[in-house]
Amino acid sequence: MNVLVLGSGGREHAFAWKLAQSPLLTKLYIAPGNAGTAQVGINLPFAATDFAAIKQAILDLHISLVLVGPEDPLVKGVHDFIVGDEEIKHVPVIGPKQYAATLEGSKEFAKEFMIRHAIPTAAYFTATPDNIQESFYFLSQQKPPFVLKADGLAAGKGVLIIDDLELAKRELESMLNGKFGAASKKVVIEECLHGIEMSIFVLTDGSHYVTLPEAKDYKRIGEGDAGLNTGGMGAVSPVPFCNTELLQYIDTHIIKPTVDGLHADGIEYCGFIFFGLMVSGNTAKVIEYNVRMGDPETEVVIPRIQSDLLALCVAAANKTLHNQTIQLDSRTATTVMLVSGGYPGEYVNGKPITIGNTPDSIVFHAGTKTSENHAVVTNGGRVIAVTSYGNNKNDALALSYNSIKNITFDGMYYRKDIGFDL
Ligand code: AMP
Ligand code: GLY
Repeated sequence: MNVLVLGSGGREHAFAWKLAQSPLLTKLYIAPGNAGTAQVGINLPFAATDFAAIKQAILDLHISLVLVGPEDPLVKGVHDFIVGDEEIKHVPVIGPKQYAATLEGSKEFAKEFMIRHAIPTAAYFTATPDNIQESFYFLSQQKPPFVLKADGLAAGKGVLIIDDLELAKRELESMLNGKFGAASKKVVIEECLHGIEMSIFVLTDGSHYVTLPEAKDYKRIGEGDAGLNTGGMGAVSPVPFCNTELLQYIDTHIIKPTVDGLHADGIEYCGFIFFGLMVSGNTAKVIEYNVRMGDPETEVVIPRIQSDLLALCVAAANKTLHNQTIQLDSRTATTVMLVSGGYPGEYVNGKPITIGNTPDSIVFHAGTKTSENHAVVTNGGRVIAVTSYGNNKNDALALSYNSIKNITFDGMYYRKDIGFDL
């Protein structure tokens, strides 16, 4: 079968790398892809949100499955578009419809869902310009630090964690006044959770699910988790503190009630769910849902899946995931992200990248492209994710860091302390 993957990051290269190994695959296309996806499939020159071009590609290239990487096309309704079009509605889409994608697109929607289905999460109150006094009251009842979240998608920047109550009130007003545009017309105020963050992922057909390995990512630009937030600077899977008891708790109290809750609410869902968790002892609370895989978590999760990913996707599309089991590699996988100088602030694209021998790692491209003179050049803040396996995180990380010695581009930066807290 021919498959189309939408997206252009490290996550999509990891998907493409894995799908390319499937005996079920005939041809693999990635739109728009990057220089790495071009090594394992054929890149198509249109954006992941260009619905007309997606339709044309499905028809011209006889695509029989579409796998959506990032949230943007999902939130814009790519799944609804495909199933709503007479000519292409037979093509299954891995990735939820627009309404279900609201689990990621609106924090308030996600909180209401969790409360309705008794899924553990932080206490919250939704602030709007009409309830400012009640919002201040809820804030004043919380212990610092104060957590303020823009309701809508704000490019990963919409969460503020503030120590001082008066400052939190001022920030709340400024958010409601459009600090993050339409995304912060509503603000979810949350109880601050304490513990250690971890993520877990499932692939679901709306009734059944297979659980993928858990992972921990490192979001801050600086070592010791200092400095600005990024898309993610590295990841580790499995997470050493995630024991059987914790996994059981997460399955019983979080994953199963989520999938059952979607079903009970009549929300069709075919795709990945990303659970962002705050773990404390052997319990956890949900910080957020994403309706897609994480990046760079995918670059450690996918390499740990031994089963055929395409077979799992086909089963999800056919609603037969209950007939599937998932085999995992027990080794640890780590990834270290190489980023452009200046990221997550301003940076310059188009820097030539040299990749030497890296026999001990998988080099997943994130922000790269092939230039007109066939050189691989930087094309984004996060440029390359270097993934390795080991018997433990230290062995795996040593291999990633060793491989990085053979990769260079002008201004390259990476964190040397991925996994430091584990
Ligand atoms: P979110 O976009 O909801 O994932 O939030 C971004 C980051 O803010 C999370 O990864 C956490 O580090 C932090 N965060 C969000 N909500 C809370 C909370 N209720 N308590 C503590 N930290 C939080
Ligand atoms: N690494 C976090 C995310 O993909 O949202």
